Amino acid sequence: MALDVALDIGTAQTRLATADRGVIVDEPTLVAIDTSTGDVVDVGHGAREVVGRTSRHVVVFRPFAQGTTIDFDVTARLIAHLFERAGVSKLSRARVVMSVPSLATAIERRALRQAAIQAGAREVSLIEAPLAAAIGLGLPVQDPVGSAVTVLGAGASEAAVISLGGIVSAGARRLGGNDIDAAIATALRTRLGVVVAPTAVEEIKCLLASARGRSLGMSQVVRARSVDRGELVEVEVTAELVNTALSDVIAGTVRMIQECLAETAPDLVVIEGLRACLEEMASLHALLRAAER
Ligand SMILES: Nc1ncnc2c1ncn2[C@@H]1O[C@H](COP(=O)(O)OP(=O)(O)OP(=O)(O)O)[C@@H](O)[C@H]1O
Ligand SMILES: [Mg+2]
Repeated sequence: MALDVALDIGTAQTRLATADRGVIVDEPTLVAIDTSTGDVVDVGHGAREVVGRTSRHVVVFRPFAQGTTIDFDVTARLIAHLFERAGVSKLSRARVVMSVPSLATAIERRALRQAAIQAGAREVSLIEAPLAAAIGLGLPVQDPVGSAVTVLGAGASEAAVISLGGIVSAGARRLGGNDIDAAIATALRTRLGVVVAPTAVEEIKCLLASARGRSLGMSQVVRARSVDRGELVEVEVTAELVNTALSDVIAGTVRMIQECLAETAPDLVVIEGLRACLEEMASLHALLRAAER
């Protein structure tokens, strides 16, 4: 029997599922390579753990940025390693479906397809990320109604209206959670004079960031290093600081969704609640930015 595999390589996280075993990989998109031999030492969680534990020749790569591959060779090795874990080989006659951002170029698509074939897939189909997300959400993608979906990733964001099995209108930006982390890190440095570890910045985001201002009034004490003296200090980070830092990314994301909806035929969707919510978010962030100035 053929093996059916679904693969989603993201800027931050990689997921692999098979039809019979479900999700078997949900790990960071990291590949540890021994640069003296060129061998892959480990990928995902394992790659994060080898940092600083093995020889200096081992380098950890992030082969994806802004939603697409920036290093074809390392991506091909990542796919080969994941396929090995999933039991994909030339003998398994695997059919593989891979999600790609709609912004992926023809060259990027061809490279991903080739890497999967080389790693043992017999058939490879590519599916646009918003369509994959809509199917995963159980939306009625095949029906003659409009389904709107937004995918917010670490490096890219997309919005699409789907009907009759295809994308009717779409919007995309190379903007995502990583840009929010970078904006929060900048605000911590410029407004509080401290530097915080990247994982701690991500935690602050998950705790205090809210596009609709729902966290306003909350705060969190975090350990940081002062920029001027390099000392370890504790600072109180407020949701107001975090949400002000989000403004540009939120504005870009809201505009992307509005552009996608604007392209849609009026008889297909009347999503007034969504439009109102987008306008509310845009005006809230305009207010936060005005308050900062
Ligand atoms: N509760 C949360 N609040 C805000 N951001 C979150 C939350 N949970 C996860 N994230 C962010 O979502 C991003 C990861 O999303 P996802 O796994 O979809 O990205 P990806 O598929 O790796 O990226 P891309 O599709 O852009 O290549 C990270 O930036 C992470 O910090
Ligand atoms: Mg993704």
